[in-house]
Amino acid sequence: MASISPSPLSLMSLNISSNFNTSSSLQYPFSQKQHQPSKNRKPKYHKIACTSNDTNQNSPKEQEQKSSPRRNVLIGLGGLYGATTLTNNNSLAFGAPVPIPDLSKCVKSTPKDIDPVDCCPPFSSNIIDFKFPTFGKLRERPAAQLVDDDYIAKYKEALKLMKALPADDPRSFEQQAKVHCAYCVGGYTQLGYPGVQLSVHNSWLFFPFHRWYLYFYERILGSLINDPTFAIPFWNWDAPDGMRIPSIFTDPKSSLYDPKRDCRHQLPKIVDLDYTKSKEDPTNVNYVPNYPSAEQQIQINLSVMHRQMITNSQTSRQFFGSPYRAGDEGGVDDKGPGSIELTPHTPIHIWTGDPKQPVGEDMGNFYSAGRDPLFYAHHGNVDRMWSIWKTLPGISKDCNDNDWLDSEFLFYDENKNLVKVKVKDCVDESKLGYCYQKVDIPWIDSKPKPAGRRVRSKGKLLTKPRKSVDNFPIVLDSVVSTIVKRPKKSRSSKEKKDQEEILVIYGIEFDDKIEVKFDVIVNDEDDKVIGAENTEFAGSFVSLMHVHNKKINMKKNTVTCLRIGLTDLLEGLNAADDDSIRVTLIPRYGNGVKIRGIKIEFES
Ligand code: C2O
Repeated sequence: MASISPSPLSLMSLNISSNFNTSSSLQYPFSQKQHQPSKNRKPKYHKIACTSNDTNQNSPKEQEQKSSPRRNVLIGLGGLYGATTLTNNNSLAFGAPVPIPDLSKCVKSTPKDIDPVDCCPPFSSNIIDFKFPTFGKLRERPAAQLVDDDYIAKYKEALKLMKALPADDPRSFEQQAKVHCAYCVGGYTQLGYPGVQLSVHNSWLFFPFHRWYLYFYERILGSLINDPTFAIPFWNWDAPDGMRIPSIFTDPKSSLYDPKRDCRHQLPKIVDLDYTKSKEDPTNVNYVPNYPSAEQQIQINLSVMHRQMITNSQTSRQFFGSPYRAGDEGGVDDKGPGSIELTPHTPIHIWTGDPKQPVGEDMGNFYSAGRDPLFYAHHGNVDRMWSIWKTLPGISKDCNDNDWLDSEFLFYDENKNLVKVKVKDCVDESKLGYCYQKVDIPWIDSKPKPAGRRVRSKGKLLTKPRKSVDNFPIVLDSVVSTIVKRPKKSRSSKEKKDQEEILVIYGIEFDDKIEVKFDVIVNDEDDKVIGAENTEFAGSFVSLMHVHNKKINMKKNTVTCLRIGLTDLLEGLNAADDDSIRVTLIPRYGNGVKIRGIKIEFES
């Protein structure tokens, strides 16, 4: 088993050193004790009954804006032609970094089927620029299954204090949860772009936004217990030892507990990184009565991790997601989320949330996800994947587009100051003072394997032959296959190294009220049984409920794309010299999904 241990000090690969101000004036007035997580702690399981209603508990003011010349031009155009014209096309001829949200125009967020929720933070027009923290030693974020009793006591205490703060204190747990809601469910417009929603999912803002979010959450917890070395734990779902909900989050008496979780998925259930909820639903055609055993699930999960971190993350665009610039409304034919954001990030949200709640609360919906303390451990591991990805051999570097690097967010810090941060200041987490505990990374060696032939039962195929389609667009209402011609074949290893061959499923369009999942299989044959552990399984499109505010100028439908890496996959199937590939799309849930087309592109 390989164990790649990223060294936090060697992670920096961007040429942005001139922008760092390491001589910060922000001081940590606390002690400098470092926590040492202990190994081999036996997990304690808390049994929670899975009954029908057990989880049903009730639980400006002009802001100072640094103007860029490009942005001034945009604002000028907006004045002449109106904001709609300005952003109609979603892709401006010239980009600009995404600006901070306009706090003065924060509105209620409107999740599907429930009343609007007020997620707006306390208003302040006093915005300070971020300064790097000073620290003696990096804070080591531990794997949640490896922490000792001292650590648990400390974390529980910190969260208890956070939950006890008045609801309007920007450091309170309630306000921390709202940060996610406002940024993700249509609370904000972009400053200087009236009517243009700010969204931090489904694009390259996903990793940096959540890194900053956790940074301030962790700093607030540390300051509440007067321990600046305090580091939040990560849910180590990418390794067998960490694939269950960490037991520290399952004690109903603790501040780390949240009753709004799927009671079928409590300990000792193994998380499903490719979770397809229809497989667990006896009323659905996709129901699988013999859901995989724990052993099989672990293998599937490791294959999913290998695929998403390596096969489908060869380029920085694949890993981070598509560009999202000032004025973009989201919803563009060939733009979409990065590999990890899609899977396993989103399936884990859905797997954890409680399907008996109105809209999948807490983890299963963006508006409520931050109410579950487990959210921050989930995102700890998502963030850790960014740190690991940069150290993988042969993998590209961080994104170096200035519009990404200069994009900005606002957060309240541990002193209740409203702080403006930039993406470029978070790309090296060691400058923020933390690193991750080094644990095994077994998925490095868990390359998916080609599927075996199905034994025919009395000469009959058990799988239905796929319906073939030649013409797009289609409505994906049944399993379909299509042949996609490859612009280049038999590429040399240098060509393969320089450019990744990418299958682009573009113009994926659906009503933003529904949740969607479909799987993509390459070179499927009718007599093969293919699962997420197989090479042919190229990836999935999966989206969480994320209804936007209708008052904001948004398209009714979500339009996005899925980009899949083919180089590794076709080598694994011995098909690198073929003229074309057969692509099969398997809808899992969500009706009426339109797909405008499928093509192959090359990307550096
Ligand atoms: Cu902002 Cu896991 O989502």
